[in-house]
Amino acid sequence: FTAPAEENGEPEGVEPAVPLRSKQWWNNPSDDMCGAYVERYLNGGLTMNEIANKHKPIIGIAQTGSDLAPCNSGHVQLAKRVRDGIIAAGGTPFEFPCHPIQETTKRPTASLDRNFAYLSLVEVLFGYPMDGVVLLTGCDKTTPALLMAAATVNIPAICMNVGPMLNGYAGQRLVGSGTVLWDARAALAAGKIDQLQLMQTVATSAPSLGHCNTMGTASTMNALAEALGMALPGSASIPAPYRERGACAYQTGRRIVDLVREDVKPSDILTREAFENAIALNTAIGGSTNAPIHLNAIAKHIGVPLSNQDWQDVGYKLPLLVNIQPAGEYLCEEYHRAGGLPAVAAELIKHNLLPHPDALTVSGRSIGDNCREDRSTDKRVIRPFENPVKTSAGFLHLSGSLFDSAVMKTSVISKAFNDQYLSNPDDPMAFEGPVAVFDGPEDYHHRIETEDKIEAGTILIMRGAGPQGYPGAAEVVNMIPPGRLIKKGIELPCIGDGRQSGTSGSPSILNASPEAATGGNLGLLRDGDIIRIDLKRGRADIKVDPEELKSRRSESGPYKGPPSQTPWQELFRDNVSELSEGMVIPKAVKYQRLAQTAGI
Ligand code: FES
Ligand code: MG
Repeated sequence: FTAPAEENGEPEGVEPAVPLRSKQWWNNPSDDMCGAYVERYLNGGLTMNEIANKHKPIIGIAQTGSDLAPCNSGHVQLAKRVRDGIIAAGGTPFEFPCHPIQETTKRPTASLDRNFAYLSLVEVLFGYPMDGVVLLTGCDKTTPALLMAAATVNIPAICMNVGPMLNGYAGQRLVGSGTVLWDARAALAAGKIDQLQLMQTVATSAPSLGHCNTMGTASTMNALAEALGMALPGSASIPAPYRERGACAYQTGRRIVDLVREDVKPSDILTREAFENAIALNTAIGGSTNAPIHLNAIAKHIGVPLSNQDWQDVGYKLPLLVNIQPAGEYLCEEYHRAGGLPAVAAELIKHNLLPHPDALTVSGRSIGDNCREDRSTDKRVIRPFENPVKTSAGFLHLSGSLFDSAVMKTSVISKAFNDQYLSNPDDPMAFEGPVAVFDGPEDYHHRIETEDKIEAGTILIMRGAGPQGYPGAAEVVNMIPPGRLIKKGIELPCIGDGRQSGTSGSPSILNASPEAATGGNLGLLRDGDIIRIDLKRGRADIKVDPEELKSRRSESGPYKGPPSQTPWQELFRDNVSELSEGMVIPKAVKYQRLAQTAGI
């Protein structure tokens, strides 16, 4: 059934390194139905040569933009340029929709949908004739969901970010998406602004098409896609409306066709070395606390061992170089103009701090060869190693009788927090205090202003907010203190089994695993119990008699959270691992390298 290229007077095309997977659908001599499959695409307007020429790769374009997902809606236009690039390089584009995931709107939380989008994309990539795929990423969960699926199926893949929004301004002041909301909420609670002023302030932070312009989870995950080697060098930070964004889409389309011809698969790029590079760069950019969850998940699906302890071992001692909100001052436009990720990587390479400059990337070159010659063009924004925003700025990994694993982003520890909790000369980097316990975000919102026992030194605990307790794990651990304490400038430490928005600048202890809903010890705490946090030793312990804890455990089962509202919530809860394990579906992890092993 193979269509000769000459049929349309076209050149024959470049012979791929291995026979194209898609042709098993069209050119399979043992399948007398395959003509019928071709017919449906001919009726869509394609020619026989575009589908069945054995040298012409079929390239999927995984479209995540839609009216429902405004952060990624720029991709609706950009996909046209991706298509142009694919066609120019000799491939045939097939664009298809992905399950939408809008971070700010999806209830109960967008992270519930990461695994859903993952599963659905695995089915599409496995079950349809595709030789490679362009992953159109952007808003927080879209990037990990698509990378996880590409890892499982392991067909040649390349990421392209939609790009961040332009800078937001309130007068001359830069206002960053997400981050401004946390500040405005605190101002509202303190009575400094009213609800209308809050709305107006927040709207100024979203001045154009694109994803959040702070170093929240969207900017982080796209920077890390590039750090892993899965996106073209310098592509992640290009603001959505910039001219370069369209050119990048075209180049991405061209490049995926070559990746298919060269048979470069995600498993060639997503190696242990690539993940260590990503962890190092995450510290240097001040990346989100959601990054360990998502990278640990991608690693699981490609079969690379990766744990929260690796994040501390590889990343903690490195400096924060990028002066961007929430840890710093600027936003993605300045960051991009200062050189973006390549300039950050170059600075690490210059000081021998990028663990594996030889790791391969989708450009066909190593990350070192891609970036070594780049330089920061604005040293206020991408700082030199000698003048970092902060030293030892990575994540700390904590464990103890309170939980087995949790992370803390040290780059956002403020001076006030440091002075109040971490500066005791007899006990540096450690604090202890009584807890105030909340069972999920609703409980917190109902009681925070009326609990009169909460004082300076109280440690706020959020439980029931993990993958099972609050299906998907809510971004609610960064709790603000009661208004009466905020007015006095008092910060309170927060600990929880849920997550925190990447745009938040709170030094919370997050992603505690196991969560209360699966029997984690956070579930045994009662108001007033004393807990001790020791950052130097990486410990988090309950100072309650173990016998007492034992009897509490037998008294009440684990906190289960609200009932499931949808079929997927129930399926998700029954089939999900802890945040420290990437919140993956353990049953899905055994399916690896599907494109190579399926033998369709
Ligand atoms: Fe979509 Fe921040 S809400 S990127
Ligand atoms: Mg978020």
